[in-house]
Amino acid sequence: MTRWCKPMAQEIPLEGFEPIDRPAAATARACSNVALVKYWGKVDEQRRVPATGSLSVTLGGLTTETTVAFSDREGPDLVVLDGRHIGGREGARVSIFLDMIRSVSLLHRLPIGAASVRSANYFPTAAGLASSASGFAALAGAAVRAAGMKASFDTLSNLARLGSASAARSVHGGFVELVPFKRENGSWDARTSPVASENHWDLRVLVSVVDAGYKPLGSTPAMARTAATSPYYDGWLGSWGKDLAEAHEAIAARDLERLASIVEHSALKLHALTMTSRPPVQFLRGPSIELMHTVWDLRSSGTLCAFTADAGPNIKVLCSPSDEERVRAALMSVNGVQSVQATAVGGPIDVVAHDVDPAGSWRTMSADNVEKDAEPSSSERD
Ligand code: DP6
Repeated sequence: MTRWCKPMAQEIPLEGFEPIDRPAAATARACSNVALVKYWGKVDEQRRVPATGSLSVTLGGLTTETTVAFSDREGPDLVVLDGRHIGGREGARVSIFLDMIRSVSLLHRLPIGAASVRSANYFPTAAGLASSASGFAALAGAAVRAAGMKASFDTLSNLARLGSASAARSVHGGFVELVPFKRENGSWDARTSPVASENHWDLRVLVSVVDAGYKPLGSTPAMARTAATSPYYDGWLGSWGKDLAEAHEAIAARDLERLASIVEHSALKLHALTMTSRPPVQFLRGPSIELMHTVWDLRSSGTLCAFTADAGPNIKVLCSPSDEERVRAALMSVNGVQSVQATAVGGPIDVVAHDVDPAGSWRTMSADNVEKDAEPSSSERD
């Protein structure tokens, strides 16, 4: 059976792809994002439909650049991340994602074979930060174009979500909402909408790295455990609508004080959920908590800033550009903080087609000339 006739594990979004010329390769650059109002838990595991709405800010300084080339032959995909060959569970997750694009392509009578994927994360040094958001957004953009198709941001966003839900938000720039909804047939789906562009509000996000090591558990299994065991999960499901509405108002008014209150509330609720799961999942470390106190101290002495934390110990702090240096100095003074890097609000995905494959993938690349036995990358830990 050829690679492109593989039965799909999940329902494929077939709409919204338009055949155009097929280039030798395509490159996409996508920014990571951090949720100001968090998603945690799914209503449809297979199609990665979040159980709660979320709203993120795009992180301009944390990007993934991915180049994809498809051959005409079947065979295993070759996936290289930061110069290392990616196999195992993580490689399979990429190939399953590419199978969707192969199926859509086949539908348009444009069969394509195995892919070569080269991806690089441009993140703060040793950050150990979530990369599945920018990773699957860039993969979606590059692979669709390399397959000889084009698609709107909304279509790319729906596709990216099937790789990792937070990736749906990384297709757009600025402030982006991702909300679940029920279709007429009773099935669940989700849509992203840009809330405000990257030029709407000049904010800084300071990424404070506490521990670049591996998380105790990835987001996908951790949220499934939370949904099944935390006594607070129902409260979480019942309160996101209010959080989202408040965040919308604060962003529209560029009101950092108001945004601070909702951003911290959402992050702390998420961590309360994981801590009260059975067995518990504690993503935060000692310095993470110290950083939260530092942010509160800064606020009570008149410097407006707000923290958030995802499924890991690193803390991201929002502030205005004029307070960046003061906030950075305070964060750096906390014991256990390894680095603090500031980023501005980032823009949407950028996709470029190449007449000649810049990586020369099918001439020069084989699984033998890249480093093997990669450690699980940060995206595996997301
Ligand atoms: C805490 O999108 O990484 O960052 O959809 O299972 O791949 P999967 O999970 P992922 O989870 C992100 C969780 C979060 C909150 C958020 O980004 O909204």
